[in-house]
Amino acid sequence: MLIAHLSDLHLRDPGDVTWLERQLDRIARRRPDHLAVTGDLLDRWDPDLLDLALGAFALRGFMNAERLTLFHGNHDLASSGGHPRRSADLWRLAVRFWDPPPLVERRRKRFYAAIAARAAGVGAQAPVMKVLRSGLRIAVVDTVPAPWKPLRFSAGTVVVHHAIGCARPSEMDWLARQRADAPLVLLAHHYPLDAPQFTWTPLGPDFTSRFSRLFARIVKEVTVPMAIVPEDRQRFWSAGVAAGVRLILCGHVHRARFDWHEGIAVGLNGQSGAGWAGRTVAYYNVTEATVTVELERVE
Ligand SMILES: [Fe+2]
Repeated sequence: MLIAHLSDLHLRDPGDVTWLERQLDRIARRRPDHLAVTGDLLDRWDPDLLDLALGAFALRGFMNAERLTLFHGNHDLASSGGHPRRSADLWRLAVRFWDPPPLVERRRKRFYAAIAARAAGVGAQAPVMKVLRSGLRIAVVDTVPAPWKPLRFSAGTVVVHHAIGCARPSEMDWLARQRADAPLVLLAHHYPLDAPQFTWTPLGPDFTSRFSRLFARIVKEVTVPMAIVPEDRQRFWSAGVAAGVRLILCGHVHRARFDWHEGIAVGLNGQSGAGWAGRTVAYYNVTEATVTVELERVE
């Protein structure tokens, strides 16, 4: 059983979609049993760009439930982009880094409606369970919170909450009840092991406007915790073990690695629009005995 994995494309404009197209062309040639895209397809909420990206999947025959599972990460539904390149991006990042939960909820419905309009069963609000013709089971849980409190500020450091992960008790109770003989692959946006936090200093040669300088005098550092909070992580692993999960696929931290934890394989993948993150496609071979991974770097 061969599963292809993409995560965190962070598409910002139609030019970035060409990266997705190149990756999908390569993946199609390998003929995997399934493709998992574990969130942050978009860098920020953009329904037109979403439709363009879905068209790229459809053109290559991926837009059906048997071949593809797709769900949102923290960026797909957010107003702010994750990768500031110019002063205009910095302004949006500063002012629109948080969206009220009801707005996020409306966008979530539109996100899944856009996917469902093209094909049933490719993406739906978690928790999701689907059984492929081969018998392989694919489950999705939603680790993206929609917090009312967007940040905390102390001594010049802003701690932004939008990238923290969660494991909702109701979804973990659901997951723990999914034990069966057929192998189970669990998909989530957040990496369920230790994840380094992202730290950003708002000073640099690209940010020279008066607003940028004023912002940098008030805010010395912006810290973005990326991990699932510890008590939720405990709940996540208890449920995963109870369900007999074989493989967890995730993204969010924009790195590619492969771990084993509690006897479960963990495949982390991530390639944003930013070149530094690398642009990898991961392939997992799931057999009765074990799980192995192969990384393909797309340049
Ligand atoms: Fe993310």
